[in-house]
Amino acid sequence: MYMKKITDNVFWVGKNDDRKVPFHRLILERGTTYNSYLLTTGKPTVIDTVDIAFAKEYVDNLKEVIDLNTIEYIVINHVEPDHAGALPALAARAKNAKIVTTKLSSELLKDMFKLHNREFIIVHDGDRLDIGGKILQFFETPYLHTEETMITYSIDDKTLFPCDIFSTHIANNELFNDLAAGEYIEDFKVYYKLIMGPHRPYVREMLRKINKLEIDMIAPSHGYILRENAHDFIRMYDEMSSLVDDASSKKVTIVFSTMTGNTTKIAGKLAEGLKESGIEPYVFNLKNSNLDEVLDRIQISDGVLIGSSTKYGDMVRNVEELLQALKNMEAKGKLSAAFGSFGWSGEGITHIENYLNDSGFTVINQKYLILNRGIDTPAFPLRIKFADEESLHTAYEAGKIFGEQVLTH
Ligand code: FEO
Repeated sequence: MYMKKITDNVFWVGKNDDRKVPFHRLILERGTTYNSYLLTTGKPTVIDTVDIAFAKEYVDNLKEVIDLNTIEYIVINHVEPDHAGALPALAARAKNAKIVTTKLSSELLKDMFKLHNREFIIVHDGDRLDIGGKILQFFETPYLHTEETMITYSIDDKTLFPCDIFSTHIANNELFNDLAAGEYIEDFKVYYKLIMGPHRPYVREMLRKINKLEIDMIAPSHGYILRENAHDFIRMYDEMSSLVDDASSKKVTIVFSTMTGNTTKIAGKLAEGLKESGIEPYVFNLKNSNLDEVLDRIQISDGVLIGSSTKYGDMVRNVEELLQALKNMEAKGKLSAAFGSFGWSGEGITHIENYLNDSGFTVINQKYLILNRGIDTPAFPLRIKFADEESLHTAYEAGKIFGEQVLTH
């Protein structure tokens, strides 16, 4: 009863959680499932586990269907506790199993669950693993929806195990989408919007990777296993992650002042990142720009990036003059962020952010990105000490993130 067959030598061994489940500050009214999979090949393999709350029940159930000592591999696609939560309990009983995961995930799992003495197999994009009768292939899918994530593909079964990706929060008993007792497509889309949507560029990257695979079935870690029309669900992700807005209609202004030229370089990299996201920004160096023209551009922009070097613990004077003038502008609904170079402590950048807040702009900073987008990348305020190659790449990535916020705001 517990173990349900998916396909040849592939079984569902998960947990149906029909409570109203608290999740990312929401309540999952329809519950959810934690889909764990057991592949009974020559080298038995578990793909993902279940929520930490059900760890004991999970291991007790699993030992009824397989001798845990024979498990060769435990694949962990994602470290959040609803999937990796039962790993310590399972690993303690499946003593011979090696844990297969990404490098970052291995570091997190070791620290989270005190698994420093455990054998890990670190996999990279495209790596394959022979599990005795089937070949698994792994693809890194960073930020879907956390940085360490990967997905697993069974070449022989033409089945994708993408963990959170392509999931739906429904405590279903029917297992397969073609047997669904009720409507679930809307829930599938809502899930995408809440969990994957904020990471749209990474969804596009993931789609590029899986488009090369032959996929008959998608076996995610929440909700229905998509064995009917699996490609319709890939197409839905494609459509939902395509830009809804015409990027060319969105406007961003970058304005800055610099002492040594480093802030100019940062502004240039921010502009490159914005162009990559599809937005051609207006760029003004205040030293040779007309203030009224700058204000006019900001007035018609959806987002503004303001930068300065830090001199004697403050911003460059003409940047403060601009910020004073912005106090009279209707800033509601405009996104903004501060950036700049510094040599010692970089107070000027913080002063810029304070001005933007006081003037009513929506300020993109770490707090905003974490709370609104689930992005744990400290993109803004963008504080760069001098300006070497590596830090300028950070500015390029920050430009992409800002562009993404403007496009999806
Ligand atoms: Fe289903 Fe990101 O956990």
